[in-house]
Amino acid sequence: SQPAPVICIDGPTASGKGTIAALVAEKLGFALLDSGALYRITGLAASRAGLDITEANAPAIADLVRSKAITFTPNHRVLLDGDDISLAIRTEEAGMNASRVAVFPAVREALLQVQRDFRRLPGLVGDGRDMGTVIFPEAPLKVYLTASAECRAERRYKQLISKGLSANMADLLADLQARDARDMHRAAAPLKPAEDALYLDNSSGTIDEAVQQVLTWWEQRQPFTTSA
Ligand code: CDP
Ligand code: CDP
Repeated sequence: SQPAPVICIDGPTASGKGTIAALVAEKLGFALLDSGALYRITGLAASRAGLDITEANAPAIADLVRSKAITFTPNHRVLLDGDDISLAIRTEEAGMNASRVAVFPAVREALLQVQRDFRRLPGLVGDGRDMGTVIFPEAPLKVYLTASAECRAERRYKQLISKGLSANMADLLADLQARDARDMHRAAAPLKPAEDALYLDNSSGTIDEAVQQVLTWWEQRQPFTTSA
């Protein structure tokens, strides 16, 4: 039997991956994988367990996340051992801690199969940093989503304020650039476009336009062949 097809949407922070992935998944009736949430959860679990995010603690952090029950509910809540952490993982601090645990190969390894298990028929949309390069290298459609740093900082600012979280533009821009640099320059699964990725610069476009572009590319892929 053919494996379910995957649409990968990778790119830097606040480029619109999550929003666009969710809308594409809804439109196609596909499952959704917010892979960044898994790294955010790992960072939060480590800090709640009193584990500093250091290389020496990487094996313990990997064991910790393996021992946790992580649940994505149908109404988009995220539960860690039954505790609703949906808002706690969305702070900039949680994003930064996610990017700090994400450099450790042991942590990435612990999250590998969890991510692949999201794959199911009729298909999956996955967003993150290494969907197309590492997790689903055989995916028939890979999108690399970008937007200017200023544009992303402004969008993230509005998003955080609308959730009732605090934000400051100057700090946000600095954090976003630091996080992108760490994500792009790490040795394990760095953020970079897959060789066969299609670029989508969403600096001036609307969310709807980006969703339409991805759906058009998807139609152009039909009928796709898989390597099964
Ligand atoms: O998942 P990622 O961090 O890449 O970004 P996101 O959380 O999906 O998007 C960041 C914010 O930008 C959200 O509030 C989106 O609604 C907004 N956005 C926008 O206003 N216009 C776009 N063309 C794309 C995203
Ligand atoms: O929403 P935003 O783009 O700011 O971040 P996210 O997608 O929730 O990811 C948080 C952090 O997790 C990123 O800065 C990466 O360091 C890490 N991450 C990763 O290494 N690989 C992924 N597939 C997804 C996220």
